[in-house]
Amino acid sequence: MKASVRYSYGPIESIQIEEIPIPEPKPDELRVRVMATTVNRTDIGVLTGMPLLMRAFAGFPKPTLPVTGTDFAGIVDKVGESVSGFQVGDRVWGFSDDGSGTHAEFVCYSIKRPLLPIPDGIDFATIVSCAEAAHYAYNFLNKVKLETGDHVLVNGGTGAIGSATIQLLKSRGIRVTAVCHEIHVEKVKALGADRVIALEKEDFTKEKIEYDFVLDAVGKSRFSLCKPILKEGGIYISSELGPNWENLTLALLTPIFGGKKVIFPLPIDILDSMKVIQDLLLQGKFKPLIDRSFSLDQVREAFSYVASGKKVGNVILDLSGN
Ligand SMILES: NC(=O)c1ccc[n+]([C@@H]2O[C@H](COP(=O)([O-])OP(=O)(O)OC[C@H]3O[C@@H](n4cnc5c(N)ncnc54)[C@H](OP(=O)(O)O)[C@@H]3O)[C@@H](O)[C@H]2O)c1
Repeated sequence: MKASVRYSYGPIESIQIEEIPIPEPKPDELRVRVMATTVNRTDIGVLTGMPLLMRAFAGFPKPTLPVTGTDFAGIVDKVGESVSGFQVGDRVWGFSDDGSGTHAEFVCYSIKRPLLPIPDGIDFATIVSCAEAAHYAYNFLNKVKLETGDHVLVNGGTGAIGSATIQLLKSRGIRVTAVCHEIHVEKVKALGADRVIALEKEDFTKEKIEYDFVLDAVGKSRFSLCKPILKEGGIYISSELGPNWENLTLALLTPIFGGKKVIFPLPIDILDSMKVIQDLLLQGKFKPLIDRSFSLDQVREAFSYVASGKKVGNVILDLSGN
């Protein structure tokens, strides 16, 4: 089968498309013919092994799996001998943030890992775009007590995490102001944001509005800049560690002093996120933003595009052959 492989942590140029044997499922695994997978920011971390902490999960001193990719949507092609509840022909999706070797025509994946059947009527690209970023968005929001009518600022409304966050907040009746480049304002409004700030026109940190929660979904701002626009007791979360990993330090220090604080959530329980997001998708309350698709042969281009920080939502590797 064709797969995107690399044998050590390194740059995008270390990725090659290779012919490797189709894997055989272990007793607790399904073999899935991959129809769609994404290239996402977690894939960049698993590829480069940066930050170094990533290697504690993805393998040390080299990646456990040579095949890149963390998520998939596809069709069960073979089942391991101790598997129950799944059969050949089932449509399934899964995501594991430590690397799952999904950028390939087939993947073997344990049913003990985060995995769900795909509901009828949902296509592969849509469901796989409900995995990585939506999981982080859901986990960030779950660390903050929000009530209907609270006001949240999302910096980076066009990111995969930002665009998912806006929709999750709106599904809970929260007021959302989002920030993005001017060219994307209409797109972000269409996600449901009540107000959209074009960052070229206005500096959101200088506004006289106070927010209950600021989520810097692209990690481009800082707590020190956002503090003035937080209500007393307001929360700041960034999707990035920040300069000198300051968001980790601040998450330890700010709760001691009371008042406005930083939280640095560790995203856990992927299966729970997948179930919640899938339910919202079925209710029409969530629709992942998809930027563009690449073929498996274009995997390096896809990684380069994601690493550019310019993607608008999710980037798909389409293996469906359509
Ligand atoms: N903490 C975690 O567990 C975790 C997990 C995954 C990802 N991350 C991090 O989370 C961040 C977001 O990931 P993602 O996949 O959602 O991002 P993404 O999709 O790569 O975000 C790119 C988007 O951000 C916009 N953007 C760039 N600079 C901006 C700025 N200064 N202000 C507002 N928007 C800006 C870009 O718009 P333009 O094209 O208009 O510039 C682009 O649409 C990344 O930094 C990633 O490393 C963290």
